[in-house]
Amino acid sequence: MSGDILVIGGHSKIGSALIEELVRRGESVRALVRAAEHGDSFPEGVQAVTGDLADADSLRSSLGGAERLFLLCGPAEDEVGLNRNAIDVAKEARIRLLVRSSILGSDPRSGATFVRDHGVCDAYLRDSGVPHAVLRPNMFMQNIAENTIPSIDDDGTFYANAGDARISMVDTRDVAAVGATLLTEPGHEQRAYDVTGPEPLSYHDVASQLSDAMGRTITYVESPDEAVASALGGAGLGDWLVRALVELFADYRRSGTHGFAAQVTNTIAQLTGRVPRSLDQLLAEQITADTPNDRRERVS
Ligand SMILES: NC(=O)c1ccc[n+]([C@@H]2O[C@H](COP(=O)([O-])OP(=O)(O)OC[C@H]3O[C@@H](n4cnc5c(N)ncnc54)[C@H](OP(=O)(O)O)[C@@H]3O)[C@@H](O)[C@H]2O)c1
Repeated sequence: MSGDILVIGGHSKIGSALIEELVRRGESVRALVRAAEHGDSFPEGVQAVTGDLADADSLRSSLGGAERLFLLCGPAEDEVGLNRNAIDVAKEARIRLLVRSSILGSDPRSGATFVRDHGVCDAYLRDSGVPHAVLRPNMFMQNIAENTIPSIDDDGTFYANAGDARISMVDTRDVAAVGATLLTEPGHEQRAYDVTGPEPLSYHDVASQLSDAMGRTITYVESPDEAVASALGGAGLGDWLVRALVELFADYRRSGTHGFAAQVTNTIAQLTGRVPRSLDQLLAEQITADTPNDRRERVS
């Protein structure tokens, strides 16, 4: 396919890896940024344009002559309205392909805000008539590196309300590679792809992999929703985000050891020809690269 691609959400984990993939494939990429000063952090050749999903006029001008659009919006109370703005503008502009980043199990009837909002957005996109494809990734492995590891107590314990659910966590770089395929190769229109990692892992499994990677005993303690909500609130997260996160993990918990969150798909291998990355691979990379010196000393 030819023509520019506008990426919305280019600073997210999926979006930044996607931009690298697209540049590697020789695509002409434009990336929307909300603040002009954040526009210089993209790879060489990527043009930053200032705009906001809340401002349809800014989306029209950011789109310019782009023929393809990648749409990812981070967690937001008005996620549905923000996505609708982009879909409406894409329709007006007769975009050739819109690839939207959703979530595994997206369902407008879900009791979990993230899953419900994504379900509403996916249905709106389907009904819009805009040529599209949808990425539905499971929980990101990167959450373990970015959120779980920093939450580990001095005694090696971390807490979550996931019960004994098994979740086929996926590396966001693999999700991005699937997104690049959808944007650049034909044959994916009007389709949705469930994107999972290679194996379902419970948080007890995660604790065991963290123990191996960090060289000390790490323990997962199953916690009630209220205790997790209070800890997240205490860490400074707003009420809406706390509720949405707790609901999502309650959904995983209900999914149990063999439910929707445990399913393993072969989307990554099929669409990219690559073996999906595993959590122990990611931890090996992160713990050597990112662990602060004081923790590295404790690890060794
Ligand atoms: N975390 C998971 O495990 C998981 C699993 C499956 C699906 N998801 C979904 O994946 C998506 C990404 O989540 P994330 O936590 O990785 O996101 P993130 O890192 O917080 O990134 C969010 C991106 O959205 C952009 N954005 C937010 N509001 C915007 C607005 N009004 N206008 C333009 N851009 C806006 C941000 O732009 P700025 O750079 O300007 O802030 C940023 O690039 C979400 O839809 C989430 O529901 C997450």
